[in-house]
Parts: sequence; C-alpha cells; structure tokens
Amino acid sequence: MTETTHFERAAATWDQETRRVTLANAIAEAIAQRVPLTQDQDVLDYGCGTGLVTLALAPAVRSITGADTSSAMLQVLTEKTETTHTPLRLITLNPQEALALDGPYHLIVSSMTLHHVADIPALFHAFRQHLHPGGQVALADLDEEDGSFHEASVPIHHRGFAREQIRTWLMAAGFDNIHLDTATTTQKGGKNYSVFLATAQRS
Ligand SMILES: C[S@@+](CC[C@H](N)C(=O)[O-])C[C@H]1O[C@@H](n2cnc3c(N)ncnc32)[C@H](O)[C@@H]1O
Repeated sequence: MTETTHFERAAATWDQETRRVTLANAIAEAIAQRVPLTQDQDVLDYGCGTGLVTLALAPAVRSITGADTSSAMLQVLTEKTETTHTPLRLITLNPQEALALDGPYHLIVSSMTLHHVADIPALFHAFRQHLHPGGQVALADLDEEDGSFHEASVPIHHRGFAREQIRTWLMAAGFDNIHLDTATTTQKGGKNYSVFLATAQRS
C-alpha cells in the first residue's frame, strides 16, 4: 500500500479517533505559543490532512492554505469549511512532481507529516523558497521512536527524528534562529511518544 492510498482510505474516519484531535490541538497550541500569529500573515499548512491544525490556526491569521497529497483528506477538509465558512485555499500535491506550493508565505507549519516524506532536506529547501525573507517554519513531528507508532501496514519513511538531525537539515536549507523543544506527548497502544516542535527563520 502506498502512503497516498493509506490516507485515501483513512480520510473519512480520521477525525473519529479522539487521540488525533487531541494531538493536533496540542500542536496548534504549541505553535501559537512559540510563533506570533498575526492578521497580516499568509500561512501554509503542509500535509494538512483533514485540517485539524489548519482550522485551529485560521482565525489568527490573514490567510491559510492547506497542501496535501491525499485528495480524500482534502475533501474532508473542504466539507468542514462549508460548515464553518472558513476561507481556505487548498493544494493537491502530486508526490511524483516538484513541489508547487504557491506562496510566498510568512509561516509554513506542518504537523505529523514529515515522517511520511522521504527527502526532508529537499522539503526544507522548498519551504525556504516559498517563504518571504524572514519568514518562519513551525514543524511538529515524532521524536525518534522504535517503529511501534505505526501499524506495519502503514508505509512511513522515518521512525521519528533526532532533533539534532532536524536542526542540521534546517541550517543546511538556509534557516537560522532554530529552536527545538517538546510540543506535547501522545499516547498510543499504552505507550507514550514525544512530539517535538521545530521553529526556525529564513535567513
Ligand atoms: C498523520 S497525517 C497528519 C494530518 C494533519 N497535519 C494533522 O496533524 O492532523 C499526515 C498527512 O500528510 C499527508 N502526506 C503524506 N505524505 C505527504 C507528502 N509527501 N507531502 C504532503 N503531504 C503528505 C497525508 O495525506 C496526511 O494527510
């Protein structure tokens, strides 16, 4: 099963798992605490999924764009915005093609998506190219784990990340003011998994 197929199948019931909603809310809160959100910012949520983080941040900023490789996840988000009347722009990404993210943005956020992306250095370079000078990233994902977070049938590229590796990749991509700390902890199958938040500024 490819990653896109997995998310196409999971989309309709994604939000029914309370753990995911709690985790996304905690990540959105951590982002809002560490990055000033203002009404003159244009924001991209990379790997927005059903928009749990996107919709939490939307009222605090001027515009928010959600990008994802799964059209089913984006369809769930579209249906939510019809009820909440939240203005959103959505981008369906083709994993086989170069990243077309529009922009430029003042802030790029991402929640629990990096471990599904094979080439993180290339992704961070693309983030830099799609930011205004001085623009920021706020990226949350799993700290290094033993592979137990996902069921064997779910394809992933990384078993979480070492924070120093994230720092090195951000520096190499042209970011500074890099801060890494713990955003939250999530519990799954009786185990605790810690989630980092990396913030950095386009140098
Ligand atoms: C674990 S979900 C997280 C969704 C959302 N950010 C949240 O926190 O609720 C990962 C999301 O990343 C998307 N995704 C997977 N691979 C991707 C890629 N290479 N580029 C962009 N999005 C991707 C999936 O379709 C899915 O919506």
